[in-house]
Amino acid sequence: MQAWTIDPGALGGLSLQDTQEPAPQAHELLVQVEAFAPNPGDLAALSGQAAGSIPGWDGSGTVIAPAADGTGPRAGDHVLFLGLAAQGWAQRRAVPVAMTAVAPPEASWEHLATLPVPATSALRALRKLASILGRRIMIVGAGSAVGRIAVQLAARAGAHVIAVARDEGQHQELRRLGADEVHSTLATVTTRVHGAIDLIGGQHLVDAYALLEAGSTVIALGHAAGADEHFPYGAFVSDTTTANRSITSFFLGSETDLSAEMAYLAADSSLDVGALDVRSWTRLAEWVAQGAPRTSGRPVFRVERSK
Ligand SMILES: NC(=O)c1ccc[n+]([C@@H]2O[C@H](COP(=O)([O-])OP(=O)(O)OC[C@H]3O[C@@H](n4cnc5c(N)ncnc54)[C@H](OP(=O)(O)O)[C@@H]3O)[C@@H](O)[C@H]2O)c1
Repeated sequence: MQAWTIDPGALGGLSLQDTQEPAPQAHELLVQVEAFAPNPGDLAALSGQAAGSIPGWDGSGTVIAPAADGTGPRAGDHVLFLGLAAQGWAQRRAVPVAMTAVAPPEASWEHLATLPVPATSALRALRKLASILGRRIMIVGAGSAVGRIAVQLAARAGAHVIAVARDEGQHQELRRLGADEVHSTLATVTTRVHGAIDLIGGQHLVDAYALLEAGSTVIALGHAAGADEHFPYGAFVSDTTTANRSITSFFLGSETDLSAEMAYLAADSSLDVGALDVRSWTRLAEWVAQGAPRTSGRPVFRVERSK
């Protein structure tokens, strides 16, 4: 089979190579990969991987062979999957049953490929905020892939959703997705919130913490700004309105058994992942070499059966 492998001397540091077929373990199934949509984490991890290794965490495809232990999807099922051990930018891959879900056959490969990392991160992070019905929940970086799913799921769960996105061109869309308030910056959010998910970090995280009500939490899920966090004196000096607030980190790789969540997310055709920019996977290295731009939507790569 063919796969994109780490090749430091090549365009984008990747080359499409003939590689060995995957060898699934007993709890893994073999999948014909149909599409994948690179995540910021996939791209950040490229520089740390050994030459010859195959990057890529998640995607969508058809089951070629079920797991030898008899569990999970059957041959021919359409699935979405996630494996942080990488190996995803390939024609075929092995994935653990616990990180795979059967998708409705009518769902497009491109749509399914966008869901695993962003949508399960949004769902699991919202669960950590516990009951959000009727509560003010803030999504910082709401225009991101994780953010727009978090807005939709929080609205469905009955929250009063406060979306923060620096690009005002996204504000109408965020309202359509269920946001009750939309802000370009945290400076205009004036009422305290019950919980927050921050995708940006840096000053955004500092400001999000300052907006928490007593006993509530901000989940520092993303760090897209790549900036330090400096908390001023007084940030952690509490009174009755600000006691017991917390910041917690999040790592999808520590979340186990995402099958049920992926099945729920894949079955919901109303979940809106936004515009997609569908390309042939043969153009992956060129896109990475250009700095992985997002011009007309989230890039999704369709995997061809032969080069
Ligand atoms: N902890 C985990 O397990 C986990 C899981 C999933 C994702 N993540 C992280 O979560 C973050 C979001 O992921 P994603 O896939 O949703 O990313 P994405 O779709 O690439 O979106 C990134 C967002 O960050 C915004 N942004 C970048 N720099 C900014 C800045 N300086 N100020 C304000 N906004 C800024 C961008 O805004 P514009 O559109 O205006 O440029 C864009 O909306 C990433 O850091 C990712 O690595 C972590």
